[in-house]
Amino acid sequence: MNDYNTLIKGKMVYGENKIIIKSPFNNIEIGSVPALTKKDIDSVYDYAKKAFYSWKELSPQERIEYINKFKKEFISNRDLIARIMALEIAKPIKACYSEFDRTIEYIDQTIECYKKEFINPDIVKENIHGIKGKEGYFFREPLGVVLAISPFNYPLNLSLAKIIPALLVGNTVVFKPATQGSIVGTLIGKCFFKTKLPHSVLNVVTGKGSEIGDYIIENNNVNMISFTGGVDVGKKIASKKSMIPLVLELGGKDAGIVLEDVDIKEVAKEILKGALDYSGQRCTAIKLVYVHEKIADKLINQLKELIKGLKIGSPFDDVDITPLISQSSLKWAKSLIDDAVKKGAKVVCGNISDENILFPTLIDKVKHSMLIFDEEQFAPIIPIVRYKEIDWVIKYFNNSKFGLQGSIFSNDEDKAWEIAKKLNSGTININKSSSRGPDIFPFSGIKDSGFGVQGIKWALESMTRIKGIVKNKI
Ligand code: G3H
Repeated sequence: MNDYNTLIKGKMVYGENKIIIKSPFNNIEIGSVPALTKKDIDSVYDYAKKAFYSWKELSPQERIEYINKFKKEFISNRDLIARIMALEIAKPIKACYSEFDRTIEYIDQTIECYKKEFINPDIVKENIHGIKGKEGYFFREPLGVVLAISPFNYPLNLSLAKIIPALLVGNTVVFKPATQGSIVGTLIGKCFFKTKLPHSVLNVVTGKGSEIGDYIIENNNVNMISFTGGVDVGKKIASKKSMIPLVLELGGKDAGIVLEDVDIKEVAKEILKGALDYSGQRCTAIKLVYVHEKIADKLINQLKELIKGLKIGSPFDDVDITPLISQSSLKWAKSLIDDAVKKGAKVVCGNISDENILFPTLIDKVKHSMLIFDEEQFAPIIPIVRYKEIDWVIKYFNNSKFGLQGSIFSNDEDKAWEIAKKLNSGTININKSSSRGPDIFPFSGIKDSGFGVQGIKWALESMTRIKGIVKNKI
């Protein structure tokens, strides 16, 4: 077992206490990360604030060079990081590599977008819009210290999708990885350390939620928070922080709506992928399927067949389903199944567990009185709701407390488009399952799914403010 140190105040430190990280796969201790204290947090913010004044004065090119040096170092650790990720969050190793490569692409695209759209000011000239005697120059300025908090399910992508734009535009960063995923967080910090990033520009704070969870949010030196994680914590952040920009990506209950005119085989494949990738532990996973009653039996049979072919097991093997992140996640998922069964739903297959693994579970005859109709399972469960009228579906889709994404499957694109326009959600996908990517798309949610926009250009925007200088003719 390794003790991992973390980057704070320009140094890799161990801290007086540590947190042991175990693998959700076999419960074996993988390593430890420092359990930082409130005192550490105070001084990290003081240093990050001081570092901001010099970091923002570097030229864009100088900051880009630091990010490129980081990228090089990061790539040279690809295997190590992917393997630790697979151990730490039990994501299939193939998906860990994909996440790594997606993140490299994300870094390149963010640099390109920054160069093209953020370095030069927007200029509003006299002869445009009939403005007389005025010329406005509108610059993008950094905000100060950005607090980036990432979730367990994307320890690389959703960490660097916050850190990279924040640093590029001239902010300094305090980064808090999820506890499960914090070894990966320390490795990100180490790669920055090796590239000799100036002192305190990035700080990776690891620690117990009970000790520093609220404390990192409350500090007065925080100028912006970008958070991805649970609804409760998101709401807590929103209630504790006013007058600073927040981007909150919280839960989702993305529904897939299947019209009666589809190619059932194709749609079943897409639903399976959308619902079960990383064992359903994605905010954009399909978490409810509305299917027209005329084709419901066929779709369910098709899904059942496909589920039979799924491989379940170790994240290091070529499998589809791996253990859930914790016993409490498994308990929650099972409580939703039990509630549905008690209220009349039918388990078609699955509902078997082994340690942290939940076998992919297909549930038919789900009704809106059941908890699983509106609660986010974050587990490999596909609840099926049979419907007669699309207006009924639209009503219930829009009644959901979440509003991240949704998908419509139909061979009639015009019809799908009309329905999409009536659905109240961040994004509606036609004939594909929901997803955040490609990363150049804006990504946002409404209601309990959060607010603020992510995606390359929007992440950069969210971490800057506009500063105008207006020349007036005298
Ligand atoms: O879990 C939340 C992520 O933002 C989902 O991202 O759609 O790329 O899986 P994804």
